[in-house]
Amino acid sequence: MVLTFVSGTRSLLLTYERSYSYTMRCVLLAQLFEPMVLGGQTLPNRFVLPPLTRSRAQADGVPTPLMAEYYRQRAGAGLVISEGTVVSPQGSAYPQVPGLYTEAQVEAWRPVVAAARSKGAAVYAQLWHVGRQAHSSVQPDGRPPVGPSPIAIAGWEYRTPDGPVPFEVPRALSEADIAGIIAQFVTAARNAVAAGFDGVELHAANGYLFDQFFNSSSNQRTDRYGGSIENRLRFLYEVIEAVSAFVPVNRIGVRISPSSNWMDVSDPDKRSLYSALVRGVSDRRLAYLHLVEPGIAGAVDAETDPTAIESTELGALFDGPVIVTGGHTPETAAAAVGSGSADLVGFGRLFIANPDLPRRVLHEAELSGLREEGLYAGGPIGYTDYPELQSSN
Ligand SMILES: Cc1cc2nc3c(=O)[nH]c(=O)nc-3n(C[C@H](O)[C@H](O)[C@H](O)COP(=O)(O)O)c2cc1C
Repeated sequence: MVLTFVSGTRSLLLTYERSYSYTMRCVLLAQLFEPMVLGGQTLPNRFVLPPLTRSRAQADGVPTPLMAEYYRQRAGAGLVISEGTVVSPQGSAYPQVPGLYTEAQVEAWRPVVAAARSKGAAVYAQLWHVGRQAHSSVQPDGRPPVGPSPIAIAGWEYRTPDGPVPFEVPRALSEADIAGIIAQFVTAARNAVAAGFDGVELHAANGYLFDQFFNSSSNQRTDRYGGSIENRLRFLYEVIEAVSAFVPVNRIGVRISPSSNWMDVSDPDKRSLYSALVRGVSDRRLAYLHLVEPGIAGAVDAETDPTAIESTELGALFDGPVIVTGGHTPETAAAAVGSGSADLVGFGRLFIANPDLPRRVLHEAELSGLREEGLYAGGPIGYTDYPELQSSN
């Protein structure tokens, strides 16, 4: 009889424990469904579709109807950030990425943007110039790519259709060239507004052109764009200043990857470099700071460097909304939002594999895994064929 009593109490306790942890989990996840204001717009939740290159545009960078379907499927995010969208042919390294520098591209973006906002999301265009990550085989007139200094990327290879080749030594940009690239960003930002985007994100992460200016390994200039940290940040500030003539600053976001050496961008003092950058963009009252978490190298997971700078440290220096992306699950995302260390959380690979991710989290539905097939090119397979939940769920 005593035994029956003890085991009965234990199962009661277990049931209580389970329902308590279930309730706590629901309370935790509910934080991802709190609306918030960004750039004067109310976002329905804290989920972000971060920029994800999927290479489904036409060869001339014109978006396709298939892209509209892809973004429609993922429109349940609070904030949708477009895949990296190049500001010029010179800014491009890979086939079939979209652009925002021709009238035909602007026209074709309109239905894609409309699809992305069909459930109330704010929609931003990620503006991209790859700098020295390009290759003469894909550059206008077969010229070498450009960069702050004539220093090739070491330790990585450029993937041509015929196989990997070493990166080339870039042509160092003159001050007139830099002014020309700033003008490319301005045109692309104006075009983004014309296409219906609510704002723009400057892609200053992952070793692309902005990041090449920031880091001393790729920037050995002796003019006002090199040397001191302030000089290495000048190109970013000048782009923000120029773009803000057409897009209000509270609709301009900046994405950085402070703990990544991906594509050979290194600096002996990343902490001082990125702290100064975050303070600088904070002073400019931007829409948001988008931080790629340590432990991410470009599009994949990597060993976390012991010198990595935690997002909480940099986020605390920014007076405004902070987005963190990289390796998050709904639980870690909710913890970040709940603790106040982030306002919004990006889910890259999870959003590719689960087009209706917020709805799945809300309904506690199982999450699908990512397939490699069709990740970077092709048609609907691996792109728009991930199933959405049935409407009865
Ligand atoms: C297929 C793929 C394409 C990506 N393309 C971009 C891009 O265009 N711009 C960018 O800033 N980051 C890009 N990323 C990085 C993601 O935005 C994100 O930082 C990364 O996937 C880590 O987040 P996750 O762990 O949630 O996937 C890409 C990642 C993947 C997997």
